[in-house]
Amino acid sequence: MPELVNSQQNISLIQNLTSNKKYYIQTYGCQMNVYDSELVATQLENSGYEKTDKIDKADAIFLNTCAIREKAEETVHNRLSNLHTLKKKNPKLILGVLGCMAQNLKNDLLESKPYVDVILGPDSYRRIPELIKSREQKNEYLVDTKLSKFEVYEDLYPSRSEGINAWISIMRGCDKFCTFCIVPFTRGRERSRSIESIVEETKKCVSEGFLEITLLGQNVNSYKTPNGTFPELLKSVASVKGVKRIRYTSPHPQDIDDDLLEVMRNHSNICNQIHLPLQAGSNRILKRMNRTYTKQQFLDLVNKIRKYMPECSLSTDVIVGFPGETDEEFSETLEVIDEVGFNSAFMFKYSSRPGTKAAEYSDQINEDEKQSRLEKLIKLQKNKTLIANKKLIGTVQEVIVEKESKKSSHQWAGRTMGNTWVIFDKTNESLKDNIKVIITDAQGITLFGQREN
Ligand code: 5AD
Ligand code: SF4
Repeated sequence: MPELVNSQQNISLIQNLTSNKKYYIQTYGCQMNVYDSELVATQLENSGYEKTDKIDKADAIFLNTCAIREKAEETVHNRLSNLHTLKKKNPKLILGVLGCMAQNLKNDLLESKPYVDVILGPDSYRRIPELIKSREQKNEYLVDTKLSKFEVYEDLYPSRSEGINAWISIMRGCDKFCTFCIVPFTRGRERSRSIESIVEETKKCVSEGFLEITLLGQNVNSYKTPNGTFPELLKSVASVKGVKRIRYTSPHPQDIDDDLLEVMRNHSNICNQIHLPLQAGSNRILKRMNRTYTKQQFLDLVNKIRKYMPECSLSTDVIVGFPGETDEEFSETLEVIDEVGFNSAFMFKYSSRPGTKAAEYSDQINEDEKQSRLEKLIKLQKNKTLIANKKLIGTVQEVIVEKESKKSSHQWAGRTMGNTWVIFDKTNESLKDNIKVIITDAQGITLFGQREN
């Protein structure tokens, strides 16, 4: 009996055999872009393209871009200028810009980089097969940056590369409008996928060998459907057989409630880790950022989380040099960082994003001052990370064997439930084993240990 394949697979197989065209995708920015690139890969493979890691062998090159800070945009502009050389050598090459920068800078790109063929915003990836086909036939620009109130790509399954972790997007967009942030403009309004479709995708990931699921959303815990909100979804995903670890990112502190913490506490496969973006420690700046919480409310939330889960690992995002931030207000940020003792932090200099409210504030901080504040903050946080990691010395941690250590072929590297990397000597374990490791040392941002016998 011949094996049955569905018609979509059939078409894709035939096209693969006949066309042999190759695509290359480079992803910039957040995890949502990683997921979106996997969705784009599925679309391209359904159009008869094969993935290549060699950019000079590609018939179509896509940059999935980020607009969160000016530097991210500069990187893409430079990359596109380099790719112009490839395009001159091969005029048939399809060059595409996808994602947030495509959404945000469509006109600028059309003007400054006329050799770009395809510009697609984050809600237009369904059109890829059709656009590729028409671009192959006619040598013209294709631009689609319409934002949708509904698109969640519920029925598209991403083409994931192998590994431990599978990203699953559960909601898209953001309605919070923090005054510094371009995301509500590039990604549009909040919308959520159904619980059933997320559970189905989780099951599929488990059957493909993924051990960890990370639920993704620009504002992940604003997740809302007629059948439930984020805690209900988390419970359903945690109940899927074979899911060893569940993480989620990025939540907004405002939407972390008792129900969510209760679900986290009650499910041993939901990691005891929360990314809790602080952004700033001064009430005046938080208000100006439209973050909707005060310093005290944030600290109270940290205490509440630690009451529910004393071992919970906390990470954060901080912006220094927001318009009008005084030395004293910056010191308040340092005080909160000192008081909370986050396990890790992503720290940024404020970057003005045209179109956002904060870009219009007249009291922008100069670059040298921002740099000096960033350095102070990084110094403090480095120390805090080391203190938090040293507290783990002597404890036994569950670790999944993820890869060989970069420094030695006799050692493995894996992450704890709290998301900290641990290096340990190889014994008789294999990749993907879930083992127990006794922590013996902490250096920089890394833990060291020995397998428990
Ligand atoms: N400048 C600097 N950092 C920013 N972020 C978002 N917008 C900006 C900006 N304009 C940071 C925030 C957010 C993280 C993803 O990026 O800290 O949580
Ligand atoms: Fe940006 Fe704020 Fe939305 Fe996060 S919550 S994506 S920082 S607007």
